[in-house]
Amino acid sequence: MAHLLVIGGTGMLQAAVLNWNEEGHEVTMIARTKESLLRVVKRAVHPDCIHMIQTDYHQLDSFQNQLENLSAPDIIVSWIHSSGKEAIQAMCDLYGTLQKPISFFHIKGSKAHDPRHNYIPKFAENIDYHEVILGFRITEDISRWLTNQEIADGVIQAVKHPQPRCIVGTVWPWSARP
Ligand SMILES: NC(=O)c1ccc[n+]([C@@H]2O[C@H](COP(=O)([O-])OP(=O)(O)OC[C@H]3O[C@@H](n4cnc5c(N)ncnc54)[C@H](OP(=O)(O)O)[C@@H]3O)[C@@H](O)[C@H]2O)c1
Repeated sequence: MAHLLVIGGTGMLQAAVLNWNEEGHEVTMIARTKESLLRVVKRAVHPDCIHMIQTDYHQLDSFQNQLENLSAPDIIVSWIHSSGKEAIQAMCDLYGTLQKPISFFHIKGSKAHDPRHNYIPKFAENIDYHEVILGFRITEDISRWLTNQEIADGVIQAVKHPQPRCIVGTVWPWSARP
């Protein structure tokens, strides 16, 4: 069983966190509010295997301290907005000093399909880096953004079948985005 560290796991990734918990993995969630963290823990099948870290990834010192006090995860699933690039790099720097292999799934918005808008952190060799880009869906000529369930299902599949880049839904044709 793996230890997953999930940043931003109390929002649209909630169903993914609950799925990994149900499969018996240890999951550590990071979010700012106790309310959002507790909401997920209350729905967990194995509440003893789900851990909460209440911190803001914009508060870099506190974010780093919390990670330093945590046993290193096997898998990181990171949904961090573009304002939190420093936190992403800080995670890569911290875990890049270890010998342990760590899979890093970087969840990104649809714009990241364009190299001009794609942020990729620097990472050491022990970090197996994967991008998961959230696109949109086109059904019967109507395009819409993904639902939370579609996002969670896509991320579960991306972690189960790791590829360097996975697109949930589509980003083509870009002009058809909602
Ligand atoms: N392509 C697509 O279709 C697409 C792509 C992206 C988003 N969306 C949609 O947009 C909706 C809103 O997106 P959202 O970005 O608000 O995501 P969200 O997943 O609904 O919520 C953000 C998550 O990150 C945590 N968080 C936010 N800021 C944080 C910070 N500074 N430090 C630590 N944790 C933080 C939040 O918990 P706390 O509030 O407790 O901190 C929560 O767990 C989603 O529900 C989704 O449906 C769609």
